[in-house]
Formats: sequence, structure tokens, C-alpha cells
Amino acid sequence: MIKPVWLDGDKVIFVDQLRLPVEESLVECRDYQSVATAIKTMVVRGAPAIGISAAYGLYLASKEAAELSKDHDDFRRFMDEAADHLAKSRPTAVNLFWAIKRMLAKYEEVASQDFATIVSVLQKEALDIAAEDEKMNYSIGEFGHDLILPGSGVLTHCNAGALATGGYGTALGVIRAAYEKNKDIHVFVDETRPFLQGARLTAWELKQDNIPFTLITDNMAGYFMKQGRIQAVVVGADRIAANGDVANKIGTYSVAILAKEHGIPFYVAAPVSTLDLSIASGDEIVIEERDAAEVTSWAGIPTAPEGTQAAHPAFDVTPNRYITAIVTDRGVIHPPYQTGLQRIVKEDA
Ligand code: MRU
Repeated sequence: MIKPVWLDGDKVIFVDQLRLPVEESLVECRDYQSVATAIKTMVVRGAPAIGISAAYGLYLASKEAAELSKDHDDFRRFMDEAADHLAKSRPTAVNLFWAIKRMLAKYEEVASQDFATIVSVLQKEALDIAAEDEKMNYSIGEFGHDLILPGSGVLTHCNAGALATGGYGTALGVIRAAYEKNKDIHVFVDETRPFLQGARLTAWELKQDNIPFTLITDNMAGYFMKQGRIQAVVVGADRIAANGDVANKIGTYSVAILAKEHGIPFYVAAPVSTLDLSIASGDEIVIEERDAAEVTSWAGIPTAPEGTQAAHPAFDVTPNRYITAIVTDRGVIHPPYQTGLQRIVKEDA
């Protein structure tokens, strides 16, 4: 199974998602600062994968703290700085903050023990976060494949696959599970301007697994819906508010409206680590603004006249009323989301 990030002794290794699909190359990070840079520059991306990467980053930080600290106060200062630095890498995906919080809570449990113990406990916690995420995606697939009828055309936006998670994927987890159940599905992959996660990454993953797909540009989605070629939409999420509003890759909102207009179910697939019940609605979600150069050029080649002013919000929020169901690792939640989401977070994992 494809994995975007793993630990190799003292190094965090990333599949370089900036170079896919042209080149399958790796990036090695030996300190938390370079892990933060890998997240910021999108060598690694996708909400759960960002969380896992930050957890590995904090493990690297603890190793460095153990080497450089005179005492436990020093160690704590080092960990706080590292957590702060990693938290500033990207603002929208809540999994980043969830993972940092979980690592710091584990650190608190053992903070007064000897340095070697702290480091090994944090290493195990980071590995657990990665392994649990992969497991959750298989559960999402198990719960979600029932929603996909045999013979369906299924549209997905961005990449919510193995590359965006601990493995298998959330939206692509549902799609993979439906395919594995021989449902004879055909995937429509939105290319996902401007970063092309659909064209570069989702298409690459589906090709590896021999799952039939057609790549379309984002502006073709309505056409194929009207043609009756799409029976379901499944997307991932970067943050889900208490009322079920969903932040996901820019363009998701438009797809949701199109799906509603055509009477097509619109599903969101995400693990509980993507829920942020501390915010009442999607209005409170910070939307990352990325460099406009990512809109006016591709791979260094200009796609607009020099000096063109462009905007680049990297995510949008889909209001809960457009969402047919949210598929989590703990089951499928139907509206009203407020109560359903509260109920599953209270359940023991
Ligand atoms: O900017 P990205 O590539 O990190 O955005 C990724 C998405 O929007 C995904 O759909 C989301 O993180 C879910 S990944 C399982």
C-alpha cells in the first residue's frame, strides 16, 4: 500500500508529492524544521498525512531536545518551540493541530522521566498515530462502500487517497472498498486546479490499483452530471465543524451545489481526527491563502500574462445542507449532523 510518509531510524521520509506523477522520489528530513517546510511547501499534503508528519516532527524534536538540553526545563522549551513552529506550517487542516495536541499530551504524561524514556514514548505515539489512521481508513471504506451502488460513476475532487493519509485513503478508501467489492464503478477525477492533486495524485493512485477512471477538468463536472454519468460524489475533508459544515479543497463547494442540482448524493469521508467540534460552524474555519504564483504559473511556466493579479484560497467550506452523509471510521452520520457528530466523538475509539 502506498504511504506518503514513514519513519526510518532518525529520519522522516516523504514521497515527494511535488514531483509525482513524473518522478517517484523521496525527501529525507532529519529535524522538525525541515518537516515543517515539507508540510508548508506541500511535499506532503492531505489533512491526515499532515497530522502524521507533524507527529513525526515532534518525535525528531524530542531526539534533538534530548541531545541539547541541560535539564527538563530546557527540554520543555525545545518541545514548545517545535510544536509552535510545526503548527504554523498550514492553518486549515485540523488534523495538524489534533496530532500536535496529542503528542504534547503524551509528552506531559512522561515529562519528568529521563530523556531516553521521553523520546521512546514519543516515537511510539507518532507511530501509533500513523498506524491508527491507516486502520481508520479501512473502517471508512467498510462503512462507506454500501453507499455506492453497483455500476456507479463516482466523482472525487482533490486527493483524499493513500497519499493524503496513513494509507488507503478516506474518499479513495470508500472508492477502493467499493471497487474491491466488485461494484463495477468508474471514477471521475476532477483535476483540481491550481495544484492538480486530482490529475497528478488521484489519477496516479487509481492507475496503480487498476481502478477505472476518467480525468476531467474541474469545469466539466456539471456536464458529466447532466449526462447522467455520475451517481455519487465522495470527497475528503480538512475540518468538519460541529454543525457538519466541511472545509475541503477549493472547488468542493461548487461540486456540492452541482450535485444537489442534479439530485446526486454528496458524501464526505473523514476520520474523527478531522472533526473540530470546538467550532459551531464553517464560518470559523481559517482558509489558507497560498501564493498567487501557484495560479499564474505551472512548473515555472507562466499560464497568465506577467503581473496578473490572482487569488488563491486553498480551501472552501461546503455548508452542511449540501452534504448527504459524512462517512467516518465510526459509522455513517446523516443529518442533523450536530447530534450525530457529538455522539461519535463521545464513543470510545
Ligand atoms: O491542499 P491539500 O492538498 O493538502 O488539500 C487536501 C484536501 O483538501 C483533501 O481533500 C483533504 O485534506 C482530505 S485528505 C484525506
